[in-house]
Amino acid sequence: MDKPKVVLGVSGGIAAYKACELLRRLTESGHDVRVVPTESSLHFVGAATWSALSGHPVSTEVWDDVHEVPHVRIGQGADLVVVAPATADMLAKAAHGLADDLLTNTLLTARCPVVFAPAMHTEMWEHSATQENVATLRRRGAVVIEPAVGRLTGVDTGKGRLPDPGEIFEVCRRVLARGPVEPDLAGRHVVISAGGTREPLDPVRYLGNRSSGKQGYALARTAVARGARVTLVEANTGLPDPAGADVLHAGTAVQLREAVLKAAADADVVVMAAAVADFRPAEYATGKIKKKDGQEPAPIRLVRNPDILAEVAGERARPEQIVVGFAAETDNVLANGREKLRRKGCDLLVVNEVGERRTFGSEENEAVVLAADGGETQVPYGPKEALADTVWDLVSSRLG
Ligand SMILES: Cc1cc2nc3c(=O)[nH]c(=O)nc-3n(C[C@H](O)[C@H](O)[C@H](O)COP(=O)(O)O)c2cc1C
Repeated sequence: MDKPKVVLGVSGGIAAYKACELLRRLTESGHDVRVVPTESSLHFVGAATWSALSGHPVSTEVWDDVHEVPHVRIGQGADLVVVAPATADMLAKAAHGLADDLLTNTLLTARCPVVFAPAMHTEMWEHSATQENVATLRRRGAVVIEPAVGRLTGVDTGKGRLPDPGEIFEVCRRVLARGPVEPDLAGRHVVISAGGTREPLDPVRYLGNRSSGKQGYALARTAVARGARVTLVEANTGLPDPAGADVLHAGTAVQLREAVLKAAADADVVVMAAAVADFRPAEYATGKIKKKDGQEPAPIRLVRNPDILAEVAGERARPEQIVVGFAAETDNVLANGREKLRRKGCDLLVVNEVGERRTFGSEENEAVVLAADGGETQVPYGPKEALADTVWDLVSSRLG
């Protein structure tokens, strides 16, 4: 079988060196990668590096090898074009259809999915010119992933950093797997909670649960690949931030509620995949609880935590908002799931059976998705991202 053909466009940002790692990931996973740098980007990484790592000749302009008509052929033959880093200048050129070098020509001739991974200073990213260009590209079907927050060139910190190359690779892998279809969540804001809350007893101990957050992260990664703006509210996962998602951190159920409700205010979809503690200790000991000779430990009194799923579903921030819940059950899985769907008032409920060695922490999952309109979708045992894609299929068919 022919290897999938990927064009890696590299424009002139300081993060161009990170594209070497992305190129390596793509080639090592069986993709045939043609690197098309801009002239500016060669100030950061030279053509020899791209040529040696990709095994293909490298050119920045349309006047080399003219007999092969590269300004048309490279784009026409591609299964995926990914531009990483994408400068403010490159986003502007792409949005306006300029074609003054090989990469911009390639972007006009490609009919495959296109992913842009912008990287620039926060001021450049937030400028209305850049934001309008990004909106134009997204409206036309490109996947433009949000930059990460962190250290920028020089002493500055803020939004604008190129996400981790391994995470950009994950976006590329998913976009390629979906094939040449429109990103159906483009223009949608989705909020996803992931992980498990921890309810502190004292400065060193907490009541927690076994949720790893992997299902929520799979939902976030697949939503980015389908074009959504993703806010991921994570609790205690320790997982690397998915490329393109705005990641907020919460520790306890109360903190998670606050972050989810705030993010949900303008969301089209809210997916509550986090395992939120139903109860928390009524008292928090400010010093470590000590054992005392000859005395039994004092019982821990619990109080109820807020029911975030019921609150989000019951008081929708927008009338057309879609709310998805998760039910982790150890027995009477389906019956408990149906009852929970009714009680919580959500549109979809993903019901899965959990146990000490089941689901939690694993890369696979198996579930039934129950719908408020009576639908029932079985998702066979498989990768958590397959379940995530089924959830997005069901959500997508319900979005106006
Ligand atoms: C040291 C240095 C770092 C730069 N980093 C970035 C960057 O991260 N993002 C960006 O949009 N522009 C950056 N620029 C500006 C671009 O290189 C400049 O806009 C250039 O015209 C982009 O050309 P291209 O889009 O054809 O590659 C940087 C410039 C310099 C000198």
